[in-house]
Amino acid sequence: MKLQSIFGALLALALLAGCSHVAGDAPYRIVDNEIIFAEPDRAEGQHDVLQLRCDPIPVVRVAFIGLGMRGSSAVERFTKLDDVEIVALCDKVPARVERAQHTLAVNGLPAALEFTGEEAWRKVCELENVDLIYNCTDWEMHVPIALYAMEQGRHVAVEVPAALTVRDCWALVDAAERTRRHCMMLENCCYDFFEMATLNMAQAGLFGEIVHVEGAYIHDLRSLQFDRENGYADMWRLRHNTVHTGNPYPTHGLGPLCQLLDIHRGDRMERLVSLSSDQFGMSAYAARKYGPESPEAKVPYALGDMNTTLIRTAKGKSILIQHDVTSPRPYNRLHTISGTKGFAQKYPVPALAFDPDAHRPLSEERMEELLRRYEHPVIQEIGEKAREVGGHGGMDFIMDYRLIYCLHNGLPLDQDVYDAAEWSSIAEMSEVSVRHGGVPVRMPDFTRGAWRSVQGFRHARIE
Ligand SMILES: NC(=O)c1ccc[n+]([C@@H]2O[C@H](COP(=O)([O-])OP(=O)(O)OC[C@H]3O[C@@H](n4cnc5c(N)ncnc54)[C@H](O)[C@@H]3O)[C@@H](O)[C@H]2O)c1
Repeated sequence: MKLQSIFGALLALALLAGCSHVAGDAPYRIVDNEIIFAEPDRAEGQHDVLQLRCDPIPVVRVAFIGLGMRGSSAVERFTKLDDVEIVALCDKVPARVERAQHTLAVNGLPAALEFTGEEAWRKVCELENVDLIYNCTDWEMHVPIALYAMEQGRHVAVEVPAALTVRDCWALVDAAERTRRHCMMLENCCYDFFEMATLNMAQAGLFGEIVHVEGAYIHDLRSLQFDRENGYADMWRLRHNTVHTGNPYPTHGLGPLCQLLDIHRGDRMERLVSLSSDQFGMSAYAARKYGPESPEAKVPYALGDMNTTLIRTAKGKSILIQHDVTSPRPYNRLHTISGTKGFAQKYPVPALAFDPDAHRPLSEERMEELLRRYEHPVIQEIGEKAREVGGHGGMDFIMDYRLIYCLHNGLPLDQDVYDAAEWSSIAEMSEVSVRHGGVPVRMPDFTRGAWRSVQGFRHARIE
């Protein structure tokens, strides 16, 4: 009973907190049946950070903030990277800092500075001997930490989604432009082996003109969301999904697709419409787990089980993005590519097909042969070690490797602050579209007109 009342209180708080940017001072207006978000002017003297290069950093000194499920595995991966020094570890829960400290010790690394408590992240951002803040806290803490870190002169890597509102996306863009610091969202799915191979194929022209792409995050997270002991800290994900609908987690599916479509490197996402089913899955799960009369089963969860968002780009391409974390379904990110010459899909079964025989997919043998032939140069460089280190099969390590490689060599990062803003802003825009019955949303241009100045997405590499 005690746990139930705690749960009820948490949800009540969530309901109150979550309403603040759904209603009230709406950051958008509706004109001619179209939702238009404000596009604030760039401050005088501020310039874009497209292809931002900063001074090379010989040894990247890193501080980790947020050492839960994701942060603790990031620390483990960083023990396997060259050219880094882990300077500080921070979590509001002391035991999590201890656990990460133990990871350093068993890997033969010196102890890092320890920070605990709700507000200790400020002190971490202020450390003079830190180059990079690696932020693996829950969604609500991403933006405050990222903004403060950049203001203190640090580069920032922030977990997905980087921000939950369009306004916060603009805040990240403005902070990065003002401070000339990197702000990279840690979209690891851009570095998975199939995604990298199909990116390489696309850039070699195998799919012709890419016309339509599909991505998703379909991952049954019901047990983690409802696990008070071993799930998300303070049940942050369930609290969010209690009050928000739309697609709160769009970036895993969308990131690799935006790289394929050269988004803000010659094209841009212009308009979206979004539709959600009602919610059935969480209530049914909660009723089974806690009983039909439990508070958990009676909560009116806002998140529809399935959200589908459709986006159209300036160059006339279409993107479909789905989100479902509350249905018993096999894991799926779709990763479907349809072009004038060929087709690829990763889930549920990998397939490649090409003109003039695209009616049937290539045999598994032919597909494997092509995937090997078009293995991305970055994978050739680090793929084997990444498979050994692991982290979602290796993609997490490739992401970390690339981040450190680019900082070390003073190169533009693979994902810039505009990627973080464009991909994350779908969270609020999809929710607003859903709440207005599927009304189209005009998507802001976070580059403020500079999206044509770089042509084509490329991973920067030293000669
Ligand atoms: N890229 C991926 O594949 C992937 C996978 C899982 C999670 N994530 C993302 O990683 C982030 C963390 O997810 P998780 O599963 O590790 O959640 P989690 O709840 O296990 O970890 C969050 C941690 O942040 C800490 N924290 C919260 N507020 C803090 C504060 N003020 N100061 C210091 N520490 C604070 C919590 O104590 C907790 O340890 C989320 O943004 C999530 O979306 C990404």
